[in-house]
Amino acid sequence: MNLMLMGLPGAGKGTQAERIVDEYKIPHISTGDIFRAAIKNGTPMGLKAKSFIDKGELVPDEVTNGIVKERLGEKDTQKGYLLDGFPRNMVQANALDSIGAELDRKLVGVINIHVDPASLLERLTGRYICRNCGATYHKVFNPTKVAGVCDRCGGTEFFQREDDKPETAKNRLDVNIKMNTPLLDFYKQKNILHEVNGNQAIEKVFEDVKKILDTIK
Ligand code: AP5
Ligand code: MG
Repeated sequence: MNLMLMGLPGAGKGTQAERIVDEYKIPHISTGDIFRAAIKNGTPMGLKAKSFIDKGELVPDEVTNGIVKERLGEKDTQKGYLLDGFPRNMVQANALDSIGAELDRKLVGVINIHVDPASLLERLTGRYICRNCGATYHKVFNPTKVAGVCDRCGGTEFFQREDDKPETAKNRLDVNIKMNTPLLDFYKQKNILHEVNGNQAIEKVFEDVKKILDTIK
């Protein structure tokens, strides 16, 4: 299954991706996670990406497309993959079509997690992440079962993303809202777009995602 998760910042892409990759055993490819790892490791690509991410802007397409092409060329994507946060505009969508054709990794399903934009800022500013395994939580909507201990790996250190500060998060939302509609139209025309209501509890959203994936399998 070659899949892509779409949704505005805070819609729950990462949260659902954790559950999808556990259940369907396909690699999770989040361009945001790749950039954050590169920033942490201080690589030249990370340094370049940081200047855009810190403002809530998109990293230039040629950088992002190159990363995805390289990643999809790896062996573990042979039986499928789950893209999260890529493509984000039409240049990237066309690039993915070419990459898919060249590497025999054509996209077969796009799941758009639709959430009322008014609730997204609260999701972003309340998010915290396990430093050890990357599991995502929310102070109010999705706290760890035991305070201070990750449900998934037992880790006890958490962090908040730099780009979840209110000003940056707001700009990320504005930037992404603008590009969303043409992308949705593009995948609708290809007949591979599936909509999920993301204004529901996390496990309910996952149930709906599974119903869709079971029709694609
Ligand atoms: P990226 O890391 O992809 O960030 P994003 O798209 O802004 O999305 P988020 O990761 O913030 O949200 P999410 O949908 O994963 O939500 P989550 O599950 O965490 O990208 C970051 C930056 O990298 C970009 O701004 C850009 O600069 C750069 N970049 C990345 N890809 C790029 C590309 N293709 N091109 C160019 N630049 C690129 O959930 C959010 C919170 O809500 C959590 O606290 C969670 O617990 C909670 N939550 C989740 N689901 C629910 C629910 N159903 N109900 C209540 N709370 C929920
Ligand atoms: Mg995410």
